[in-house]
Amino acid sequence: MTLTIFGSTGDLSLRKLFPALYNIYSLNKVNDDFKVVAIGRKALTHQEFIEMIKPKICEYARLSFDEDIFKDFSAHIFYYQMNLTEESDYTNLNIFYHEHQIKDQTFYLALSPLFFHSVIKGFKKLDHIERNNVIIEKPFGISTLDMIDINQKLMKIFPKDHIYYIDHYLGKEMIQNIKTIRFKNALFKNSWNHEMIDSIQISALEADGVLNRGAYYDSSGALKDMVQNHLLQILTILTMEESNNQHEAQLQILKKLRIDQVLLGQYEGYRNEKDVDEHSTTETYAELKCFIDNERWQNVPIYIRTGKKLKRREIVVIVKFKALEESPSNLLEIRIQPTEGVYLQFNIKKPGAKDQIETVQMDFCQSCVEINRINTPEAYERLFEEVFHHQREYFSSFEQILLSSSLIENIQKPMPFIYDKTIPYSLTEWVEIPHSY
Ligand SMILES: NC(=O)c1ccc[n+]([C@@H]2O[C@H](COP(=O)([O-])OP(=O)(O)OC[C@H]3O[C@@H](n4cnc5c(N)ncnc54)[C@H](OP(=O)(O)O)[C@@H]3O)[C@@H](O)[C@H]2O)c1
Repeated sequence: MTLTIFGSTGDLSLRKLFPALYNIYSLNKVNDDFKVVAIGRKALTHQEFIEMIKPKICEYARLSFDEDIFKDFSAHIFYYQMNLTEESDYTNLNIFYHEHQIKDQTFYLALSPLFFHSVIKGFKKLDHIERNNVIIEKPFGISTLDMIDINQKLMKIFPKDHIYYIDHYLGKEMIQNIKTIRFKNALFKNSWNHEMIDSIQISALEADGVLNRGAYYDSSGALKDMVQNHLLQILTILTMEESNNQHEAQLQILKKLRIDQVLLGQYEGYRNEKDVDEHSTTETYAELKCFIDNERWQNVPIYIRTGKKLKRREIVVIVKFKALEESPSNLLEIRIQPTEGVYLQFNIKKPGAKDQIETVQMDFCQSCVEINRINTPEAYERLFEEVFHHQREYFSSFEQILLSSSLIENIQKPMPFIYDKTIPYSLTEWVEIPHSY
């Protein structure tokens, strides 16, 4: 079991991939022949690379840091320096694989899509490349056309089911839980339609700005960075039909998705961020009103919002049921991040009164229970395990990616307004549920 990570010295590898691999290793979920070939451009010795990942694992790994385990883990890592755009470097990489008797492996492209073409070309210099798997990170190309090109090139090298398109949101505990909540409760399963549901709200809010990723973000923006992939994944899982073929069920929703209204914003001071164009009109906030034009969802508005530099960080879904006569709506909240849980608001008779209604809540915080936190793998841990076991459920399909990308590319973008933590306009009244935890 060998994993080669292109871009091992980058932010994604340091904050997410190596901490996830450390967790998997600590839990004895790898074979004895487990190896990580960590590729970077920097000239580093093995020891220097290990010193680079150590503090990141201390800070970001879910499991507490253990010096002995880390030492064992480090012995499975090989730092390999190369220039991705230099063809001869792939010939040398092939020799390295022979020397270390590495035959079957998974390549992880933790790189900007600008490098995908060079790496794919370089793959052809590696022996028995078709036997391997490849994982690619979003964005899967700089445009829809580029994605098609990259996918076609990959398909010429790898069998289709060896290509894994990452959307790490699919590895999040509560996003997987949406299906259980929907399909394993008669209460929700039978009322999950336009007759019973008034609207759905999906929020992914961040308190941070672009941090050190200004160059990438300025060419992407909130629509491409968050809506196109993560939020459309959530939306399609929330609204798809129950099926053994989840990718197909999600695809059917995307085919019927209509984006009705769009609002964009940019946080104050964004243009002064490092590597951001001083005249940038890139949106750091996006709000969308969508409809799904099928029988189940006719006329049910689905609202999506996401943005940076807002008052708080959270990802939540709120399903608002239709109000019966004068009584308040039932609300179901699925909390995805930072706390994980489920909240249900419903109506009872006010104790002691004859005709009065009282709204009460059931509030389940899953991540407040320590054992749940310990037992819940991080998204990237789940994704690695899936690949190691040749499973595809937690990955996106290329058809989904393509359709989502063209939906977003076809939006007529309004000029973004400027905001300071609070959004001045809205397409709906966003439900905000206070929690005591
Ligand atoms: N960061 C995240 O949280 C995150 C989340 C989801 C998706 N992504 C996506 O994942 C990709 C990587 O993101 P990142 O934030 O990790 O980027 P990053 O910090 O800029 O890292 C880029 C990596 O590419 C390597 N590299 C660049 N040019 C190279 C060359 N010519 N030869 C060899 N290696 C080269 C760098 O090596 P050196 O450092 O040695 O120069 C570094 O390891 C991007 O497409 C990003 O959008 C990132």
